[in-house]
Amino acid sequence: MPFPKRRLMIPAVFIAALCGALTAVAAPAASAAPARPAAPASRSASKVQQSASQSYNGLALTPPMGWNDWYEYGCNVTQAEVLANARALVSSGLAKLGYKYVNLDDCWMAPTRAADGQLQADPTRFPNGIKWLAAQIHHMGLKLGLYESFGTRTCKGNPGSYGNYQQDADTFASWGVDFLKFDYCGPPSGLTSAEAEADYQQMSQDLIATGRHIVFSEELPIGADNANPANANYLPYVAFSSKIANMWRVAPDLTTSFDSTIFGHLANDLPLASYAHPGAWNDLDMLATGNTTFNWTVQQEETQMSIWAELASPLLDSSDLTSMTPATKQILGNKAAIAVDQDPLGRQGQLVSQQNGVDIVAKPLADGDVAVLLANTSSVPEHASTTAAAVGLGSAAAYTVSDLWAHTTRETAGTIAASVPAYSAMLFQVAPLRGAVDRYPPLTDIAVTPDVPALYTGSQFAVAAPGQTISVPATLSNDGRETVTDASLSLTGPAGWDTGAPVSARVIPGGKDLTGTWQVTVPPGTPAGTYTLTGTATYRWNAGRAGTSTGQGGFQVDVPPSGTPYLDQLSWLSETTSQGSGVIVDKNVYGGPLTIHGVTYAHGLWANSVATIYYYLGGNCTQFTASLGLDDSDEGTGAVVYEFYADGTQVYDSGVVTNSTPTVQASVNVTGAQVLELHVAEGNGTVNFGNADIASPQLTCAS
Ligand code: GLA
Repeated sequence: MPFPKRRLMIPAVFIAALCGALTAVAAPAASAAPARPAAPASRSASKVQQSASQSYNGLALTPPMGWNDWYEYGCNVTQAEVLANARALVSSGLAKLGYKYVNLDDCWMAPTRAADGQLQADPTRFPNGIKWLAAQIHHMGLKLGLYESFGTRTCKGNPGSYGNYQQDADTFASWGVDFLKFDYCGPPSGLTSAEAEADYQQMSQDLIATGRHIVFSEELPIGADNANPANANYLPYVAFSSKIANMWRVAPDLTTSFDSTIFGHLANDLPLASYAHPGAWNDLDMLATGNTTFNWTVQQEETQMSIWAELASPLLDSSDLTSMTPATKQILGNKAAIAVDQDPLGRQGQLVSQQNGVDIVAKPLADGDVAVLLANTSSVPEHASTTAAAVGLGSAAAYTVSDLWAHTTRETAGTIAASVPAYSAMLFQVAPLRGAVDRYPPLTDIAVTPDVPALYTGSQFAVAAPGQTISVPATLSNDGRETVTDASLSLTGPAGWDTGAPVSARVIPGGKDLTGTWQVTVPPGTPAGTYTLTGTATYRWNAGRAGTSTGQGGFQVDVPPSGTPYLDQLSWLSETTSQGSGVIVDKNVYGGPLTIHGVTYAHGLWANSVATIYYYLGGNCTQFTASLGLDDSDEGTGAVVYEFYADGTQVYDSGVVTNSTPTVQASVNVTGAQVLELHVAEGNGTVNFGNADIASPQLTCAS
């Protein structure tokens, strides 16, 4: 009987192991992470030596950089394409900046081993073999990486390494391979977590035993435990990997959906900072800069690079470098961002605080500076503010704040603040001021904070309706020590929005600000969506030099439903379920129609318990009706309770509904409510088989 409750994607062979005893793996000793030097230290030989001693194999003292074919070429990659990309690394100058590894991912090999058991290259796509290719790559001053899997098969079904570790390690060494990515595919059945660790450790040692310097990159934590810290083996796998590998994947393969993939990866990696050190790096997966399938914007690609650099992830780009655009070259070639990633101290950025959906992360650098990442994980621009002290800098009269993408440097008395666009990151390098205060313009920032009231007292949702007037304060702060003069602060909205006149101040001393509040009416007829307001300031500093600043804030506009819509025709405000499939619209979890006691419904929601779904009504509706029952597709022992709320007040309770309960007809008064909440609770203390349909869910609203 299918069991649509728990859809954790853990390989079955691991379920037993998850409950079993774990191999004890100590977290990295405190001494593994060198303390930030009290005073700016020079990048001395002794420091590098200290770092070298921390790498289990003496390699990858900074995160590996280079290219990987996978996201651009997949299983069709050819020798000619690899060589062309290698040449592009050199001719573009990226190789000189550190992009040295040319890595072949899955599918470089023939579908079978040779008669003597040796792995062999695909004869059509790599006719000259890997040894020849490695020589070509080395001749260009680059290094060659290969992919294999620890199991019996690679993820694409090619011969895995299981049972042949030493032979394969020797083969790789004899070919001149410099880097091995060791995936977690084709695990033999019944493998325990301890055995998986032993296998990885074996290959790690076998590579060392070859005598060749081969960087070891692996996927044990995500392959075996789904990159899910809630899974018992996940953190032990990360800790274990940090002892036997140079890098290990801590997040799933990238998807083309930028917001969820990049900020999901960031969330995965933030708690793992202590495992990273010279020779051992949390691997966020490849960069997709310039990749035509991902096709991210410049801002998105810069955001990925910023996060990867701050978290000291390897920088392995996967794109066709032979047709690299100037933008790709500029992003991959950003020396300041590369220097943050490659800093010899080898510390991964650590979370300082979270503010308005912005993660503030600090990475101490070898020279005493700190790289500060502001990563906005929310769908609207947000303002974030921290201080030099909070990010770990010692006391100083002033600091410089360098924006590593805008290539500007400003001076601050201590505040580090900026407005960060939605789903974007900014990367700054902050240092004690070394020079006269007026060498740099003062750091200024603008916070635009639309005051959209919660939909009802205590609601998590703040949504404006067309026609609503919103109060929008905006504040220009002078974070520098020097006075700015003749300041003017204006607010603009999307085209057609009336925002009103600027405010001004003759003088804003250091540490002071200028605030204005604008009454902004969302024009009637504005469609649902997220809207941005921009504050722009002009001022003078240092006896007449011109300065500017901008900052953005945003909010969501939603249109109240009208007429008699079914809920499947509306967008919800949010939904949560206790399982991976989420709320499903107009179908059951198996893809079939919603059916209760043989009656099929064209409109409806499938919401396995426990589930909560919120809809915006905007005070425009009077009634909600629905047919309730467990879906026929999964007749088990499930039991649920449907509870409905209008603006947080319960207005309906179905009582326990099981497969034998006749279809329940609910009719609820929602007059004047801003928000309808549909909650599906457990009816018998378990979520199993709680396959709840909310069929024909219909509102009656004013037109
Ligand atoms: C897995 C890895 C990817 C890539 C493919 C190759 O999905 O996570 O990075 O190596 O296998 O099949």
